[in-house]
Amino acid sequence: MTYDEIRKVFLNFFESKGHKIVPSASLIPNDPTVLFTVAGMVPWKGILQGTEPAFATRVADVQKCIRAGGKHNDLEDVGFDGSHHTFFEMLGNWSFGDYFKEGAIEMSWELLTKVIGLDPNRIVVTTHYSDDEAAKIWKKVAGKEAILLGDKDNWWAAGDTGPCGPCTEMHYDLGEHMPGGLPGTPEEDGGRYVEIWNDVFMQYDRDANGNLTPLPKRNVDTGAGLERWASILQNKTDNYDTDLFVNLKKAVSDITGVAETAENIASFKVITDHLRSVGFAIADGVIPSNSDRGYVIRRILRRAMRHGQILGHRGALLSKLYPALITEMGMAYPELEREQKRVVEIIQNEENAFADMLQNGMKLLETEVPKLNNKVLPGDVAFKLFDTYGFPLDLTQMILRDRNIEVDVAGFEKAMNEQKERSRANTKGTRIFWESQTELANTDDSAKYTPVEMSAKVLSILRNGEFVDSADANDEVEVALDKTNFYGTQGGQTGDSGELKIDNTTVMTVSEAGRVDNVVIHKGTLTEKLSVGDIVSPVINTNVRQQTARAHTATHLLQAALRTVLNEDVAQRGSKVSPDSVRFDFSFGRAMTAEEKQAVEDLINKWIAEDLTVSHEEMSMDEAVKRGAMALFGEKYGETVKVITAGDVSCELCGGTHIHHTGEILKARINKEKSISSGIRRITMSVGTLAE
Ligand code: ALA
Repeated sequence: MTYDEIRKVFLNFFESKGHKIVPSASLIPNDPTVLFTVAGMVPWKGILQGTEPAFATRVADVQKCIRAGGKHNDLEDVGFDGSHHTFFEMLGNWSFGDYFKEGAIEMSWELLTKVIGLDPNRIVVTTHYSDDEAAKIWKKVAGKEAILLGDKDNWWAAGDTGPCGPCTEMHYDLGEHMPGGLPGTPEEDGGRYVEIWNDVFMQYDRDANGNLTPLPKRNVDTGAGLERWASILQNKTDNYDTDLFVNLKKAVSDITGVAETAENIASFKVITDHLRSVGFAIADGVIPSNSDRGYVIRRILRRAMRHGQILGHRGALLSKLYPALITEMGMAYPELEREQKRVVEIIQNEENAFADMLQNGMKLLETEVPKLNNKVLPGDVAFKLFDTYGFPLDLTQMILRDRNIEVDVAGFEKAMNEQKERSRANTKGTRIFWESQTELANTDDSAKYTPVEMSAKVLSILRNGEFVDSADANDEVEVALDKTNFYGTQGGQTGDSGELKIDNTTVMTVSEAGRVDNVVIHKGTLTEKLSVGDIVSPVINTNVRQQTARAHTATHLLQAALRTVLNEDVAQRGSKVSPDSVRFDFSFGRAMTAEEKQAVEDLINKWIAEDLTVSHEEMSMDEAVKRGAMALFGEKYGETVKVITAGDVSCELCGGTHIHHTGEILKARINKEKSISSGIRRITMSVGTLAE
């Protein structure tokens, strides 16, 4: 069975058992406890915890997952065996307060042995030692004696807090010819027994002190690695020998001109795995950067490039491989093709920047290595490579490993911490630096609502707390122009991201446009030298803009829906509109009930379905007041104001960017509602594809 076939068989089976089939959620979670969607249950955490209503009691899906940062991190293992991935697909079925242990185990067993036809004798099961019930069910359903193990193997949680519970795992015996022993033995990692499915019985909620409280409902969360299933069903012992990876490896071979051998197989595995993480994450909206998930993706991309170098390849790699990823996975994940242009551009920019850094960094290494009188590279040199040339520590270690040189990791970490302190002090001061720049003219940002092609002059460049006449490629800078298309963070709306270009060449990747009074500050990383006086074209990322505009109009609908469902006195007290989420604070004296939250969400989605026209008009403040436009209490407005009206449901004064028809929002989902101070509540909401 191919990947496409396995996905179908899995979903069809659960559909026949009354499950609602839903598409994969985004890799960017609506959950601060994890950097990425690390498991199929992440999008369902609110339902499992009982804070969000369940839209069905039985659900099944194939979820995109990344485990490459934080608690669940497989990055360092990729390449060295046949079963680790940073990106993988998790087949899962859920019961939200419906069937529990017996139903879950029965269905897993039926699917494994009757539908996909695995030999029952080759399946070994484990349960948590405290879970007599699960062990008894295995005996009854399959005649199996479960191996009893502890928390490390048979207790599952997505983050340090949140829903969790005992689990039962199913392992497949690849046969005596393979090294390794049964789960729970010292030889368990040998490769003979492969975990193929995990049924988690979500019974508890764990708080920050580790206390377990029973959840309102007993749920089932299961996860099965599609890559492992493919490997077993295709009679392979290495996931990277299955159809999807064979085809991706062939694409690597075609592009690098290098055939796969036993010596270079690790590089083939790393590149094909990392292509999937980088491609899918960027398609879902992650932008490579120097912090959080953007940093993880940047690091993965660079690791892939380094392995391209090991194969003797120079220049662009993942951007050239992306079409092969679409061929392999585009049927199951249409977003890959839909976002192709943007993804490829972002990857190319990263690849170009990295190629330069790599060259310069290698020069530094070549001068440092002959100076060593032992086989240890000092931590501050490794840090300089990281900080100035973008070499992650593991990359430096990898390069030096071939020459039997180690890196002083403790020294590296010390230098890193010192740098963090310095940059904390710096970030706080940035605003002060700009405010002290008295000569600075206001930015003409009148084009921000309808960006046009334009030429703008560089007025100031701030680097490490100093205004400089020019800065070089790879420098982190903040740039002010005389005019711009960028919307600089204001009124709770996150600023645009994008690029500054000179003659169609990107000179700067802008991760966010901020604002100090009337000056728009373009923050980001240079990819070429930039000087004061240069003429650049500011080009925004239109996808991020569209997603932010969706979120902003959705926020107006949210306010209108709250006033309809709760009462007319509900008033906005603050908001944060980002490309991937909305946070809305409002005055209201008690928690909303589950029914009220649902009613608000339904009303917003009804207005989205009605595709109401959203008009953007400029008028005098007096006229806006006559129209009954809602204004924010305590906010200062000018003589002329912008009024955003959606059908006859919402009319607000607002300087943000908006869409033109509510249908463009696609969908809205309320994630959480909680108290933030007396009489003030906070709602978080996802919109667009992130709400699906
Ligand atoms: N959430 C469980 C896992 O990821 C199923 O293993």
